[in-house]
Amino acid sequence: MKRILLIVGGGIAAYKASELVRLLRKRGHAVRCVLTEAGQHFVTPMTLAALSEDKVYTTLWDLKDEAEMGHIQLSRQADLIVVAPATADLIARMAGGLANDLATTLLLATDKPVLAAPAMNVRMWLHPATVRNVAQLRADGITVMAPDEGPMACGEFGPGRLPEPDRIADAIDAALEAKPQRLAGRHILVTAGPTHEPIDPVRYIANRSSGRQGFAIAGALAALGARVTLVAGPVTLPTPAGVTRIDVETAREMADAVDRALPVDVAIMVAAVADWHVDAAVQKIKKGDATPTLSLSENPDILATLARSPQRPALLIGFAAETERVVEHATAKRARKDVDWIVANDVSGDVMGGDSNSVHIVTKDGLESWPRQGKDAVAAQLARRVADALEPAQPMR
Ligand code: C5P
Repeated sequence: MKRILLIVGGGIAAYKASELVRLLRKRGHAVRCVLTEAGQHFVTPMTLAALSEDKVYTTLWDLKDEAEMGHIQLSRQADLIVVAPATADLIARMAGGLANDLATTLLLATDKPVLAAPAMNVRMWLHPATVRNVAQLRADGITVMAPDEGPMACGEFGPGRLPEPDRIADAIDAALEAKPQRLAGRHILVTAGPTHEPIDPVRYIANRSSGRQGFAIAGALAALGARVTLVAGPVTLPTPAGVTRIDVETAREMADAVDRALPVDVAIMVAAVADWHVDAAVQKIKKGDATPTLSLSENPDILATLARSPQRPALLIGFAAETERVVEHATAKRARKDVDWIVANDVSGDVMGGDSNSVHIVTKDGLESWPRQGKDAVAAQLARRVADALEPAQPMR
């Protein structure tokens, strides 16, 4: 049996909360209800108490309850907190971290997963403020269901209807089964792709990096719950789900974007950053003029700069693309760049642009060689390895 704390907000859809309580009880869950002040205009504490077979909580100032059970305890006794209906006002207060009533105080104090089922007028749902607030809640790790679309009590039509109670109950069961996300609350920076260094307005120097390994890593980290900032060189790959992408062209732009993304808990620098840039011509260089000579200047070493920075992440990982003596070069690079791990790959074959990769992980403790596998599998294994590194080893009992 799972314990659900159901917060019922004040909207016309609140009447459906009664049906939700009945369904959840039928599915074998214990339900305890908190009714906001506005919610009490739409459904009575008596109804919810009868259906949940438990006391209904309505106010923070109920001193008897504070003596019997503090609001902190109330929010932590549950396996899941559900907000249904989550009104525009409640969503805004949650996004802003307010704690001006019992519901928002519980939500701010909880360490449990939260699921919100929104319900509001279509204009309110589509308003930039609500869009911003919902994005904030999702970034904070709260599951916000998509509302249903259809005719509304206010006579308008569109998205904003409370999802049907059985759909909310399904989402609740899915949330209860979900494994805790190992990288939740971590901010991880990934660089990926090549850089383009302009020669003139139409030509550039590039390399064969496709960005696929870095994009796969960003996606795998996000799948474990990390907040991922992906600084991508010029590639046409789709952005992995849940990843914030910043597109750049040159190494110097990449260095700036990396700097702005700090602080992070982990940085994984997969990008094949050009070592030099050209002192680019302002106008297109014309054929027929004297054969041009390219004058090159060194690019910033983004990884080495980050390693020396006061904002150095707790775990800093570099990549090494080598065509010979892969492990030997990677080991030297780890020491030279002062990073925690180097992921070395042999790019003498078709790794750049290809589907698979065989990598060696060089750490201060030694070497791990992984079998050749798809870039997605390398990414998933690396993401798990990062999660392991961030979790202190459990003491033996
Ligand atoms: O020295 P090398 O370029 O082989 O090092 C590769 C590693 O350093 C990769 O992780 C790459 O993303 C990073 N790098 C960087 N900035 C540079 C050159 C390389 O971040 N200018």
